[in-house]
Amino acid sequence: MEILHVSAECYPVAKVGGLADVVGALPKYQHDEGHVAKVVMPAYRNKFLSENSFELVHQAGMWLGHDWYHFNVLKETENVLGFDLYLVDIPGLLDKEGVYGHYNDTERFLGFQVAVCDWVNEWQHQPDVMHCHDHHTGMIPFLLKYGYKYSRLATTPTVLTIHNAQYQGQFGWDKLYLLPSFDLWKVGMLDWNGAINPLAAAIKCAWRVTTVSPSYMQELLSNANGLEALLNYEVGKTSGILNGIDTKVWDPSSDPMLDVNYTATTVEKGKKETKLRLCEKFNLDPALPLIIFIGRLVDDKGADLLPEIIGRSLHETGNKVSFLVLGSGDKHIEWRLEQTRNFAPSGLALYIGYNEALAHQLYAGADFLLMPSRVEPCGLNQMYALRYGTIPMVRVTGGLKDTVIDYGDKGGFGIRFVHASIWDTCHAVRRALELFENRTTFNRIRKTILKLDHSWNKSAQEYIDLYTSLKS
Ligand code: GLC
Repeated sequence: MEILHVSAECYPVAKVGGLADVVGALPKYQHDEGHVAKVVMPAYRNKFLSENSFELVHQAGMWLGHDWYHFNVLKETENVLGFDLYLVDIPGLLDKEGVYGHYNDTERFLGFQVAVCDWVNEWQHQPDVMHCHDHHTGMIPFLLKYGYKYSRLATTPTVLTIHNAQYQGQFGWDKLYLLPSFDLWKVGMLDWNGAINPLAAAIKCAWRVTTVSPSYMQELLSNANGLEALLNYEVGKTSGILNGIDTKVWDPSSDPMLDVNYTATTVEKGKKETKLRLCEKFNLDPALPLIIFIGRLVDDKGADLLPEIIGRSLHETGNKVSFLVLGSGDKHIEWRLEQTRNFAPSGLALYIGYNEALAHQLYAGADFLLMPSRVEPCGLNQMYALRYGTIPMVRVTGGLKDTVIDYGDKGGFGIRFVHASIWDTCHAVRRALELFENRTTFNRIRKTILKLDHSWNKSAQEYIDLYTSLKS
């Protein structure tokens, strides 16, 4: 079976969040199972583009409203990702470094989607299924079904995966003219709440809709940033498939980003050594339990709670714990964290920014990973933490609920808490400290979690079963 994944991100080409990790790993596993999985994404002007080699496989032009754009489709030639990677280059539109946050993101991603549809329409290797990820690719199921020039593709099955329904890509009806002509009777398919809503359009038009964990799918029926009614209406074609992680990239026994590699037998020594180096670098006391937070500093991830959680925990425990936060995002949260660090430099270390290698070292060197998320469709960080023997402390929501069992329960290994509140999270911190003191249980848990299997093996097959069910 031939699958074409369409996405705005793919690791290591361009990464903002977990979407990139999923799109960088899932095709590899599908490939290993004997399918042909390919990825197409925008050709951002970034390091990956300048450091790798590409061949031109398609050249054409397109109208985006009144503007004419020339576009190229480039194919990476060395198979560095383990599957075919295609980049859509649209000079004057997509040729910027950053992925999101440009004033014309609506036009940029519309242009990308029209170019993908135009190219696939002409391509001799038409895929058996087009798998679209998040709202940046949400117009594709609509365009293929109702766009006049894509009638050849009208019967190509489309699957939408929602990685995060908080972001929907809405724009005003005044931009309708940007779309290639389509069956106007179907114009309502684009609408949600008086705007053109790419995520809603995809939920309506894709043949199947998946989310990245079963619990998140359930939660969306009552809390989907305004799309609840639509998801309830379309519930028959939805399902939740838990993400996996790339266990070849994330492997403490061979990870090249670590100074010290380790396995389940050498975990104690390996983590101790890594923690020592980290604490030295960040001026923290290696004898204390180290709790890390890695991720975007936004309210959805509960990052706004961190300054107070950290301040209170340090106060309550008499500075018997250290925190290390790696991430960037909301400027106000960044500023509040900096203030907290200035008051308690020995209890909190900060790295504002994104650093993939440092993230690997943190998973390896930390004792606990904290995820007080308000919304967590799947969450990959808890799985990376488990793989590196770091105990996750998670709020029970979405994928966190599906992957972490509390150590007080049968077969448990993590710390769960119910509310994304300062009170609940500080209680979780106290439990973490107790666990840290109980060395026998702590070490037993470390050894157990390192061996849990969160690879894509199972979920990759679930996607294949889903595609197969769409073949007539
Ligand atoms: C988004 C979600 C995250 C999920 C990731 C990959 O970033 O917020 O929970 O793990 O997508 O699906």
